[in-house]
Amino acid sequence: MKALVQTKYGAPQEVLAMADVEVPTVGPDDVLVRVRASSANPWDWHFVRGEPVLMRPAGIGGIRTPRFAIPGGDVAGTVERCGRKVTEFAPGDEVYGFGHGAFAEFVAVPYDKLARKPSNLTFEQAAAVPLAAITAIQGLRAGDLQSDQKVLIIGASGGVGTFAVQLARHIGAEVTGVCSTSNVELVRRLGAEHVIDYTEQDVASGPARYDLAFQLGGTYSPAALRRVLTDRGTLIQSYGDGSRWLGPLGNMLKAVALNPFVGQTLKAFTAKETTAALDEITGLIEAGDLVPVIDRSFPLADGAAAIRLVEQGHPAGKVTVIVDP
Ligand SMILES: NC(=O)c1ccc[n+]([C@@H]2O[C@H](COP(=O)([O-])OP(=O)(O)OC[C@H]3O[C@@H](n4cnc5c(N)ncnc54)[C@H](OP(=O)(O)O)[C@@H]3O)[C@@H](O)[C@H]2O)c1
Repeated sequence: MKALVQTKYGAPQEVLAMADVEVPTVGPDDVLVRVRASSANPWDWHFVRGEPVLMRPAGIGGIRTPRFAIPGGDVAGTVERCGRKVTEFAPGDEVYGFGHGAFAEFVAVPYDKLARKPSNLTFEQAAAVPLAAITAIQGLRAGDLQSDQKVLIIGASGGVGTFAVQLARHIGAEVTGVCSTSNVELVRRLGAEHVIDYTEQDVASGPARYDLAFQLGGTYSPAALRRVLTDRGTLIQSYGDGSRWLGPLGNMLKAVALNPFVGQTLKAFTAKETTAALDEITGLIEAGDLVPVIDRSFPLADGAAAIRLVEQGHPAGKVTVIVDP
């Protein structure tokens, strides 16, 4: 099969190249998916570069060579074949989910990381959903967002943020989104009542106080963001200072370390990739309560450019990769 393959760590456009490789083996609990589309997440450039470096000895990356030779964590496509223990899916089913190695014609995915594709989405739209949407819904839930509360979403125009704004509005909360000038209208259109342009205003020093702050972008430390929380407010930290060694872990660790000493709740958050999480998102999409926002799409051969665009940190929504148009 054709795939975008990396043999060493480095810059996406330097280490990724198209190659003919074996179709993945299908374990008893796996589903072989014929990939129609995937999308790039920040996760992908971390793996392509092998950064934060700390992830290599921790076994997530591989010390000298990447653990996943093929990037692409989100997948949408059709079931080609099922492992002998899989009863949930059958060949021909249209599915989406979390498939490491989806920048390829086929990917083997554990059955419990797949769900039926939302019937009202194209494969490309569906591929924009999995990791970003579940991060948004689980992050807001980790912060226990209620309908009478105010939420600050920092990074409201990105892959996760565009889902988080819509979901917070759906809950009924008063949403303030943070993004740069060119994305202000997008964030407003998605349902934010207030938008802060971070190029014009320092988010951490404004007069407003929020019950929940969800940090998906920017370099604000948990200590700085405490200043915009109510006395019992919560910070959900899923983003860090981006240093080469600690990457996103930096601010997450700071939040955990500071939490016991303050009245507010400062939480590091990581999304859990499950079928149940996808099924809940499917319900919201099919009800018309949630739509994916796609900035740009690239053919598989240009998948490195998709990852590079996400690495630059300013996509307006998701960046997709079309494997089989
Ligand atoms: N913990 C988990 O399980 C998990 C899962 C998925 C993602 N994540 C993390 O969550 C973060 C967001 O992911 P994503 O896919 O949404 O990334 P993304 O698509 O690259 O979005 C980044 C967002 O950050 C904003 N931003 C950039 N610079 C900023 C600044 N100086 N101040 C405020 N906002 C700024 C961007 O706005 P403009 O474009 O307008 O500049 C954009 O809205 C990433 O760090 C990712 O690693 C964590």
